[in-house]
Amino acid sequence: MTLKSSILLTGGSGLLAVNWFYSKRSEFIVYLGLNERIIQPNGSNVVILDFSSEKNLIKQLEKIRPSVVVHTAGLTSVEKCEKNPELAYFINVELSIMVANVTKALNIPMVHISTDHLFEGNNLNLSESEPVHGINVYGKTKAIAEKFVAEINPDSLIIRCNFYGWGTSYRKSFSDHIINSLRNHQVINLFDDVHYTPILAEYLIQTVHDLLAKRAKGTYNVVSDDRISKYEFGILIADEFKLDKSLIIRSSLASQSNLVRRPADMSLSNQKVKEFLGRKLGSVKQHIVQLHLQEEDEKIKEIQLL
Ligand SMILES: NC(=O)c1ccc[n+]([C@@H]2O[C@H](COP(=O)([O-])OP(=O)(O)OC[C@H]3O[C@@H](n4cnc5c(N)ncnc54)[C@H](OP(=O)(O)O)[C@@H]3O)[C@@H](O)[C@H]2O)c1
Repeated sequence: MTLKSSILLTGGSGLLAVNWFYSKRSEFIVYLGLNERIIQPNGSNVVILDFSSEKNLIKQLEKIRPSVVVHTAGLTSVEKCEKNPELAYFINVELSIMVANVTKALNIPMVHISTDHLFEGNNLNLSESEPVHGINVYGKTKAIAEKFVAEINPDSLIIRCNFYGWGTSYRKSFSDHIINSLRNHQVINLFDDVHYTPILAEYLIQTVHDLLAKRAKGTYNVVSDDRISKYEFGILIADEFKLDKSLIIRSSLASQSNLVRRPADMSLSNQKVKEFLGRKLGSVKQHIVQLHLQEEDEKIKEIQLL
């Protein structure tokens, strides 16, 4: 992509898309593709996407002619997906199929944002070649979506990730939850038997741009260099932000009977992306230091005010 080429983000009001906009607005023309929630951050171009038919979506994209479409829209709540599997299928699978068909028809590169929530959860640091096996509606629909996207648009880039960063007033990330609770002297329970490889949104976004610049296609795990439990993640945040870590209580997923079944280990290997880009993606600790530095950034203050 050349300077000031354009990006269209579906799910434009979501946590990732908002961070994408603020991270890249000085380098690219960014279009936020909205649905129900209408936001208009300074300097953004917004478009309410018409997913009622592929024909309509094609018409909209023909006008914008983005250099790339990043498909972030999704039903991301594991609980909501389980309660409403048809809606989860529509949003996570059918919209992804539409975006894949439309970008294919218009010859626009597509980035499909997937998840680390695709496996049984009994193994660690899985590679991209591992067969997927979602254990709940969210995981199953995201797995089906990946398969369709890869079939329809084999040139697309499918990104498996689990990210955090500064959220808006209406959409908080996991790190916001930890920081806000500890700053308000509230006790939080974090699982010490759930492991993952979380990445700071800013680094996820930059890595996707690096992949696009090198014309990567196919599936990539874009995750941090190390595997950590949710409890350890909370402790690292408390240490970095100098908050009271005695408020963090170790708890366990295994002892929760009311929650939708979730994978205990979601950690992915980033070996493939490291080899392709010839660089590391950074440790969770390094990313949390950057999260802290970001807090003073005007861009982050704008995100929090949305
Ligand atoms: N958050 C994480 O840690 C995480 C981890 C792994 C993977 N992911 C994946 O990353 C992507 C982005 O996640 P996120 O946390 O940024 O999402 P999010 O904050 O939950 O936002 C979801 C977005 O999807 C839009 N959307 C929902 N239903 C729609 C529909 N019927 N038509 C069009 N748009 C619709 C929402 O718009 P409205 O609100 O206006 O409906 C919203 O903009 C998702 O694909 C998710 O599966 C997220």
